[in-house]
Amino acid sequence: MSQATNQSWGGRFSEPTDAFVERFTASVTFDQRLAHQDIQGSIAHATMLARVGVLSNDERDAIVAGLNEIRAEIERGEFNWSVPLEDVHMNIEARLTEKIGVTGKKLHTGRSRNDQVATDIRLYLRDAIDGVEAELIRLRDGMVALAEREADTIMPGFTHLQTAQPVTFGHHLLAWQEMLARDHDRLLDCRRRMNVLPLGSAALAGTTYPIDRHVTAELLGFERPAENSLDAVSDRDFAIEFASFASILLMHMSRMSEELVLWSSAQFDFIDLPDRFCTGSSIMPQKKNPDVPELVRGKTGRVYGHLMSLLTLMKSQPLAYNKDNQEDKEPLFDTVTTVLDCLKAFADMVPAVEPKKANMFEAARQGFSTATDLADYLVRKGVAFRDAHDIVGQSVAYGLQQEKDLSEMTLDELKRFSEVIEPDVFDVLTLEGSVAARNHIGGTAPDQVRAAASRARAALADIKAST
Ligand code: ARG
Repeated sequence: MSQATNQSWGGRFSEPTDAFVERFTASVTFDQRLAHQDIQGSIAHATMLARVGVLSNDERDAIVAGLNEIRAEIERGEFNWSVPLEDVHMNIEARLTEKIGVTGKKLHTGRSRNDQVATDIRLYLRDAIDGVEAELIRLRDGMVALAEREADTIMPGFTHLQTAQPVTFGHHLLAWQEMLARDHDRLLDCRRRMNVLPLGSAALAGTTYPIDRHVTAELLGFERPAENSLDAVSDRDFAIEFASFASILLMHMSRMSEELVLWSSAQFDFIDLPDRFCTGSSIMPQKKNPDVPELVRGKTGRVYGHLMSLLTLMKSQPLAYNKDNQEDKEPLFDTVTTVLDCLKAFADMVPAVEPKKANMFEAARQGFSTATDLADYLVRKGVAFRDAHDIVGQSVAYGLQQEKDLSEMTLDELKRFSEVIEPDVFDVLTLEGSVAARNHIGGTAPDQVRAAASRARAALADIKAST
């Protein structure tokens, strides 16, 4: 073999790789992030090969010891990554051979980089999902606790961003929590489906060695070996599913961010975001900017982009492995980093949001937010709903003219619009009466919010117990 060509596959080549092509085709600058999983997979592979007699126990022990030393070198930052060696897999294998000699060259028996990389990414993503889930649980826990604390806090509810009906802040927070509960479900679903072992598929067709893929699957904590070797080396559905989970999660967090930004503005003034989550302006001394929610809102776009990249990456690939697949890593890695950072920021910040209750209450009092309650009151007194709607419309027009909310009108004033109105009308025109009356599952009544919060807490406890 010519020394000038790649030592892993250079045997059939008559000239060295073009220097630019070498850099262009290499992935080691970014796939080093798989080093830990690559070593984990190789140890399992060598263990299985010894179990079926393809390697001797001494060879296995030398390989495992060498790989553990390499892991330590990488952790200490002493590993010398080489671009000519192309990727994380060949870098580690070359170093193993350097350390333990010819036995190192036996590690790749019955294996290809195609099933190796497919295994490494699954191991990596499985670990990443567990980290993401921990932050997601921390955020959901904090949100539920805040919702419970704010079950009685009244704020305006909006449609079309116009004051619609009063709701409780706790109810609003539990709406966010429901979005996250669905995201959590999608995450666990993705983890369950991806947890099958590609290793043993070799390049595409399987291998001639008497391998036992069940052993490897068990050693690596996979549910089972992947069913079809062609599919196993080329499937990247799990990366797409994760990016899809991440896109939906960030879409939700972007909506929450938008509300936090609006609420912390001088015009809404509904909340105080602690200073530690904000920054100032270099020119305007009075400014306190909600950078954290703004950045979460902004980072949503790049994760959508990664989902599009991955879908497009896969759309025209014939079976089985193609080099295109090397492009799966950067979008996937950046999705993991971005989601983890955004979740961490939210899990720290959301429980620290301080509602300005008096401002929220005052805002809910404006905009005739109990108009529907008055219409429902008239219906209970025998008026048809469409007529009731019209009567309330007239009283709102009167209130606008007089600059008076419905609850600020006298009984005589209200009676001008309908004779059936009695003093008990004031029970429904107050904000407290309005929210308390929506007393059914899914409604905004404080008692319902407390019940919903405790159901959410129980659901979270179930998830924690099962993982
Ligand atoms: N670096 C490659 C990747 O990330 C590893 C697999 C390469 N396989 C091959 N036949 N060139 O996909």
